[in-house]
Amino acid sequence: MAKEVYDIADHPPVGTVPAKMNAWLIRPERFGQPMKAFQKEVVPVPEIKDDEVLVYVMAAGINYNNVWAALGIPVNVIAARNKSGEKEDFHIGGSDASGIVYKVGKDVTNVKVGDEVVVHCATWDRNCPWVKAGNDPMYSPSFKIWGYETNYGSFAQFTKVQAHQCMPKPKHMTWEEAASYVLVGATAYRMLCGWKEHPIKANDPILIWGGAGGLGSMAIQIVKALGGIPIAVVSGEDKIDYCIKLGAKGCINRKDFDHWGMLPHWKDTVGYNNWMKAVRGFGAKFWEVLGEKRSPKIVFEHPGETTIPTSIFLCDTGGMVVICAGTTGYNATVDLRYLWMRQKRFQGSHFANDEQCYAMNELALRGQLNPCMSRAFTYDELPLSHQLMHDNKHPHGNMAVLICAPDFGLGKTADAPRFVPEAALPKGDVHDTPHPYPLSVPLPGVETADDIKIYDDGALVRDRMHPGIISCGTGDTLADAAKTMVDKDIHALVVIDAGKAVGVLSQTDIVLARQGRKPDEARGMKVGEVMTAGCATIDAGTKLSHAITEMMKRRIHRLLVTENDKPVGVLSMTDIVRRLIG
Ligand SMILES: NC(=O)c1ccc[n+]([C@@H]2O[C@H](COP(=O)([O-])OP(=O)(O)OC[C@H]3O[C@@H](n4cnc5c(N)ncnc54)[C@H](OP(=O)(O)O)[C@@H]3O)[C@@H](O)[C@H]2O)c1
Repeated sequence: MAKEVYDIADHPPVGTVPAKMNAWLIRPERFGQPMKAFQKEVVPVPEIKDDEVLVYVMAAGINYNNVWAALGIPVNVIAARNKSGEKEDFHIGGSDASGIVYKVGKDVTNVKVGDEVVVHCATWDRNCPWVKAGNDPMYSPSFKIWGYETNYGSFAQFTKVQAHQCMPKPKHMTWEEAASYVLVGATAYRMLCGWKEHPIKANDPILIWGGAGGLGSMAIQIVKALGGIPIAVVSGEDKIDYCIKLGAKGCINRKDFDHWGMLPHWKDTVGYNNWMKAVRGFGAKFWEVLGEKRSPKIVFEHPGETTIPTSIFLCDTGGMVVICAGTTGYNATVDLRYLWMRQKRFQGSHFANDEQCYAMNELALRGQLNPCMSRAFTYDELPLSHQLMHDNKHPHGNMAVLICAPDFGLGKTADAPRFVPEAALPKGDVHDTPHPYPLSVPLPGVETADDIKIYDDGALVRDRMHPGIISCGTGDTLADAAKTMVDKDIHALVVIDAGKAVGVLSQTDIVLARQGRKPDEARGMKVGEVMTAGCATIDAGTKLSHAITEMMKRRIHRLLVTENDKPVGVLSMTDIVRRLIG
């Protein structure tokens, strides 16, 4: 007869399900640093539905999502579930697992009790009309990441999963290795193979950012297995050997370049041309590593803000930049000329559907995918593993934690079907990858958006603007206009033509016009050639906060203030800063 609860070191016979289980729980009252947020507790083993499976967890994968779950930001995952009707006041995380099937629901046909499985983290409602119609469930409104957006993840003796999440465990891997690769492997697979107009064909060069990272190491191996030529970007010479052993043709060290960040403004001829020179240098390095002058058919992106301009520029005509994260920031700047003239695709991608997870796992089963596990932890070290990740002191590569597996190195029941590349990650490397947000964030839609409370002190544009306008004409020279600005100690002039405001000439416009020209040449230019045409105007009765948003959106520092459509003043960032400091 089954015991009420089994100690973590004590294994219930296969198929025997106790009433309760040991688990690492997060509760709202202890949200915060992972060392404190995760606590051991005993809770009832969850009931499974007809299409679900209860898996006895041998090992679990570690990823950043449950650092966020522990912190309770940006989303309180427990409150979010309670709001949708689930009653549990705790969260059991864990979005990667290897284990043994202990119980199946009555509709389950793909696995049986005793099967050794790995689990992917995509869940959806099988009754969702979109899913029932045979569409990609990744677009279903019911899609959720198991073990982050759902409860009963893999940080417990038993986890509750949908049957389709279960895939055969590679026999040549230990429990901890098998628990470490599915999330990153499947994400990389969808990115590379999920967009039918951009298949990887033999000898296609593919550029992979963060080649020694979790996603990048999988991407290198997938591209190699599919016959493409992976070229990785890394931040240190010590990672090059690792990427090459995994199958990269070669690497580019991003520390040899310094053109990162948002794209310079296209009017900034010197800044833009300097950027262009640097990005061409990066492209030349790509050709050098590839050994021929061909551009990447696919660019595998996740750093985001700092690298997107380079990725879009480098990508081949008709190629695709595919992205699943914005680790360095979310405001991607794109030179649209390269996007439309060369007909490139900028494609978002998020985790993977069954077809893609199974195809990726097939590579693992065939021995074509090294799980790239860098470190495994004991059950008791589960909070520590998350704390290290929180503090950016974790090792590179994929990490796992033992749950019911009694020791490291167990679970391997066969030799690999072929040679799996051995690759060791460099040790002692500083881990500086920022993690601004979890991989899955609930983005409010029209129906789902909560009321948002915003503090606004009610100030209006007319309270802060500079009354009166100082103007110039389109035919004036830059020298005259600049003199007016300097004499009157102002940063911009309204440009008037035939009595109407037709643009603004700012000091920035003058500086940009000066870029790349001799001083005399710039001085003689006409205001009409240099001004920012069309006036960015704002009504004097508009809230100051709205005016700030307008300036930020347009990346400008001032607005022409109008009252009854007549220019009455100028509002500049300086005026707002003055208000801030009183
Ligand atoms: N949407 C999804 O389904 C999904 C799934 C998995 C992961 N993700 C997200 O994808 C991102 C990467 O995941 P991961 O597991 O590969 O993380 P990781 O193991 O930390 O690797 C990230 C790599 O990015 C590189 N990197 C760091 N800063 C960079 C910069 N400024 N410019 C260029 N490269 C930089 C680093 O390599 P070097 O320093 O050597 O260049 C690092 O190895 C994370 O934000 C993660 O949350 C999304």
